[in-house]
Amino acid sequence: MRLGLFDSGVGGFTVLKKVIELCPNNSFIYLADTARLPYGVKTTHEIMKIAEEISSWFSYQNIDAFLVACNTTNAIALDVIKKNLDVPVFDLIGSAASTIQESRVGVLATPSTVKTKAYTNAIMEVKPKTFVIEQPCPELVPMIEMDNINSDEIIDVAGIYLQPLLKQKINSLILGCSHYPLISPFLTELLPSSVKLIDPADALSLKLKLFIDSEERKYSKKKNLVDLKFYVTSNLKNFPNKAKHWLNVFPEVNLVSLQKKGWVS
Ligand code: DGL
Repeated sequence: MRLGLFDSGVGGFTVLKKVIELCPNNSFIYLADTARLPYGVKTTHEIMKIAEEISSWFSYQNIDAFLVACNTTNAIALDVIKKNLDVPVFDLIGSAASTIQESRVGVLATPSTVKTKAYTNAIMEVKPKTFVIEQPCPELVPMIEMDNINSDEIIDVAGIYLQPLLKQKINSLILGCSHYPLISPFLTELLPSSVKLIDPADALSLKLKLFIDSEERKYSKKKNLVDLKFYVTSNLKNFPNKAKHWLNVFPEVNLVSLQKKGWVS
């Protein structure tokens, strides 16, 4: 199956990794909109435009399913994406919300995601008695995207963001931005062992696996083959090193302009 996914930068790698673990024999097209990173402090209007352009581009890529590997776009513009694509769309927020078991849930996310209260609303729909507290973390994505993560700085900043959530005695913490699982070792250090860390990519991958298994007969199975194609909107030279660092692959990366129409499939 040919799967499309995107993020502003390397955050979607955490989704790609989990999906490959569970659904390995597929082709993946990963788009990093590096020209507009970070998304998490952008307005609703800007994110809607981004979602429109990205989903239009993917509509020319012959994909069989689409994964929204960015929470910010998921929170603000899922409808835009669904409208532009005529393939099944798998999202992080809805997938994670449907699996929540704990009574007191903390969410770390970008400011734009937190503003929408998308996690709170999605959890309330399935478990209305849950206590949910969301914390915006404007500094984390820029720090993670820097080539050398300064662990002391990350721990200091994350510690400040976690304080209000720990005060509320959360018993689970949703990593509500796909960049954050990249720093989960630091977050684990800061959390009591009673707090369960939730990566929404787990729930998304499970849903996707069920779908792929149910569709299996339609698609020829390529055994043990992961085919990866990477596209960026800027910083072409830097990206292979980032992929090497986080995914242990050194791919060929292509530059794409999302504003220029007339793509061919
Ligand atoms: N990784 C994305 C998210 O899950 C975007 C983060 C950003 O670019 O600020 O929200």
